[in-house]
Amino acid sequence: MDDRPTRNVTPRTVAARALGVGRPSLTALTPSIDMSATYTRDHDNGYSAGRVYGRKDNASVQQAERYVAELEHAQEAMLFGSGMAAATAIFTALPPTHIVVPSAMYWGLRIWLQGASRYGHDITFVDMSRLDEFRAAVRPGRTGLVWIETPSNPLWTITDIAAVADYAHRAGAQVCVDSTVATPVLTRPLDFGADIVMHSATKYLNGHSDVVAGVLATADRSELWLRAKDTRDQSGTVPGSFDAWLLMRGLRTLDLRVKEQSRSAAILADRLSLHPAIETVLYPGLPHHPGYATAARQMANGFGGMLSVRVKGGAKAAIAVAANVQLWRRATSFGGIESLVEHRLSIEGEGSTCPEDLLRLSIGLEDADDLYRDLLQSLDLLL
Ligand SMILES: Cc1ncc(COP(=O)(O)O)c(C=O)c1O
Repeated sequence: MDDRPTRNVTPRTVAARALGVGRPSLTALTPSIDMSATYTRDHDNGYSAGRVYGRKDNASVQQAERYVAELEHAQEAMLFGSGMAAATAIFTALPPTHIVVPSAMYWGLRIWLQGASRYGHDITFVDMSRLDEFRAAVRPGRTGLVWIETPSNPLWTITDIAAVADYAHRAGAQVCVDSTVATPVLTRPLDFGADIVMHSATKYLNGHSDVVAGVLATADRSELWLRAKDTRDQSGTVPGSFDAWLLMRGLRTLDLRVKEQSRSAAILADRLSLHPAIETVLYPGLPHHPGYATAARQMANGFGGMLSVRVKGGAKAAIAVAANVQLWRRATSFGGIESLVEHRLSIEGEGSTCPEDLLRLSIGLEDADDLYRDLLQSLDLLL
């Protein structure tokens, strides 16, 4: 590599070469960030190191991908610039087909899917927590993909991944699971028979509310996978290398964060269920939740750090509860270190199926008692 001190050149040329060429220290504890947008050719005109151009060959991106693949028991993983970019890569890579998707799912993707006929897809929305309804929606031989989101945002309904995957496969369909809320700490969808798992890495995988990213991980290098990879590499929906590096930084504490957030969420779900200003608590870890038995089977280490409460008194009361908390932050998104409260309908807006009295809670790493006391003083104002 041409990084020798330059002789017989002007200061201008010395200055222009000041950054040198990439040669990360092999003894550094923390990984270097591969900031390169391009890679140098060998003298023989080849690329023996296998890297050509930053859009698809960035070393930091590939390093983060290897960790996600390992966490998900996947053959391979692929990073994207957002969760939406990851999800839509699947739908746009798929040849026109019939697709079964959940009626309870992340609102942004549901809106996008409502327009998916432009890709020739025929989309059926169905209550995926009801296996009978799911089976009735599948068209054997004609359904190409089944999409699962479990627990589903923001109602936290649970889908039985193994049962859906088994039925879908017998009908000739592939299965992709949005596992953003569960994370590989609680559920590994590929172990339950899914073909591809998807995450908004913006949430728990990164966990620090400072990166927007997405990821897909696959059980095998199927035709769909390779097409999605082509889509990403050609359209360039990749994250920047610093975001990939931040994601690795976040992954280091994923297991500890998610277990602790799940523990606190379970405490809050129990306590909030008893409050007279609350109509109902939606949390799959509560034994009366309709998905509890399935969740207990396919989630280990807890039921996740997300829950919702429906506040007596409708939208006005719910918004008032969010207005009067001190510790919780009023913001959208979830999965970070700081606890967030959100009146979900306010952000979803027109066409939303979210109940108007619903507050979504993302449990952070603060003390569960402090979080409870803060909510309690706000809820008590309604009485
Ligand atoms: C369950 C779920 N999937 C996908 C997404 C989309 O991810 P991103 O915002 O990173 O594009 C979100 C975002 O909130 C989500 O909650």
